[in-house]
Amino acid sequence: MHKPPHQMLVIFGASGDLTRRKLIPALFDLHRQNLLPGHFVIMGSGRTGHTDESFRDLFRESLEEKDRDAAASFLQQLFYHPADQKSKEDFAALAKKMETLDKQWKLNGNRIFYLATPPGQYIPIACQLAGQGLNQEKETDGFTRMIIEKPFGHDLKSAQALNRNLKKHFGEHQLYRIDHYLGKETVQNILVTRFSNGIFEPLWNRNYIHHVEITSAEDMGVESRGTYYEQSGALRDMIQNHLLQLVCLVAMEPPTVIEPGAIRNEMLKVLQSLRPYTEAEIPKYVIRGQYMASRVRRKYLTGYREEKGVDPVSRVETYVAMKFYIDNWRWGGLPFYIRTGKRLPLKVTEIVIHFKPTPHKLFRKEEDNCSTCNQLIIRIQPDEGILLKFAMKIPGAGFHVQDVNMDFHYSDLSSAHLPDAYERLLLDAMNGDATLFSRSDVVEAAWAFVDPILRAWESNHDNPLHGYPSGTWGPDVADYLIEEPAITWRYPCRNLSEDTNYCEL
Ligand code: BG6
Repeated sequence: MHKPPHQMLVIFGASGDLTRRKLIPALFDLHRQNLLPGHFVIMGSGRTGHTDESFRDLFRESLEEKDRDAAASFLQQLFYHPADQKSKEDFAALAKKMETLDKQWKLNGNRIFYLATPPGQYIPIACQLAGQGLNQEKETDGFTRMIIEKPFGHDLKSAQALNRNLKKHFGEHQLYRIDHYLGKETVQNILVTRFSNGIFEPLWNRNYIHHVEITSAEDMGVESRGTYYEQSGALRDMIQNHLLQLVCLVAMEPPTVIEPGAIRNEMLKVLQSLRPYTEAEIPKYVIRGQYMASRVRRKYLTGYREEKGVDPVSRVETYVAMKFYIDNWRWGGLPFYIRTGKRLPLKVTEIVIHFKPTPHKLFRKEEDNCSTCNQLIIRIQPDEGILLKFAMKIPGAGFHVQDVNMDFHYSDLSSAHLPDAYERLLLDAMNGDATLFSRSDVVEAAWAFVDPILRAWESNHDNPLHGYPSGTWGPDVADYLIEEPAITWRYPCRNLSEDTNYCEL
């Protein structure tokens, strides 16, 4: 793989949680794989007063634990400059330091700004950078890009305002809105599974698929992020971005080429085809829940309202399940079911394509139902892989039929290193490949779909919020979203291969 051009990565919010947990570890792993640019500087910035050395010390121990030699060479590329978003002088000094380092390290004026700050700082920082001319791209000066973390707005109006304001200073081609789900290897593999295997193409539509189910479950609660979560909730935190991105990849038409514009155009069309809910439909088709305290294997699990930073009478949802339709030629009339939640029994993300039953049942039994139909399970995490369920005759007299699994696990590809999503996305941004980043219209289309739900929940407190005990699969009422009595949500196991849906027909 070729290395990205020489450049500087400037991280705002550099002493924050995201930098420590995700960005520095991902950059360090890229460094160990020799994938970073030949000349590369990481400049941390933020309100905290660090020197270059004290900034390096923040990460020294954890990096040395992984690889002492690599840590030494990596750390010397790290620098820091304190900057308050309100101070023009701070940004002037930052610009100066960037210029000096650019010359010393021969970076050719190439730079990426990474906004890993609370969202309220995005625009002030963008304005300050523009004030110093740091938004400019000239042919001789190299490129300038900006990576923006989620949440990208908190509703449609604020997302539109954010886009408008960012675009006053930066062109769309400079803006990289990150959704780390798109950086996951298994998420990208959805495109390959669909568009490089001739067997799926003819089946991938309403004629052969009965319904599509997507689950992204977490066993953890909100942990230390109660204050953030109170402003967000599961709909904004997971559905508006990660889950709708998965829906796009499952439902989109084949792009003409694998290029950012072509892929994003197809994703946009999916979002624009989502059938909007009427206000009356929302309580029926969108179920929200909140985890309650419970005891699981003798361990006490706190309820959401007891978490730090959470209002004791909070009505913020930690679980959402919804049913919707995509009104287009391929998917017309076929239901999509998606759900996400915290404090569910395990951490798992998967997409299940439920195929229709055979037109005539030769091996029939009364309780035969669609849970015994063919299923294609695309496991995003953990035990990343793909599983196809189909029926086989059990050897012996009669026609006893059993569902069997044909499974592939990424771990079987011995040479496969599954890069962390941030590794892939940072590398793509350094290389100027925006395919896996969201375009402004795509982000806004996703907000346009969830906005009426947010408004209905905020304005009408009769919309129920269902409690569910921590460690369960969410409110029972979510089962009734699936209106056919014989069909239920899948209850996945941690390991794909443990997944046995035995049925004797
Ligand atoms: C983040 C959300 O975007 O995604 C978190 O803010 C959530 O609340 C996380 O836990 C889940 O990501 P992953 O990669 O662990 O599935």
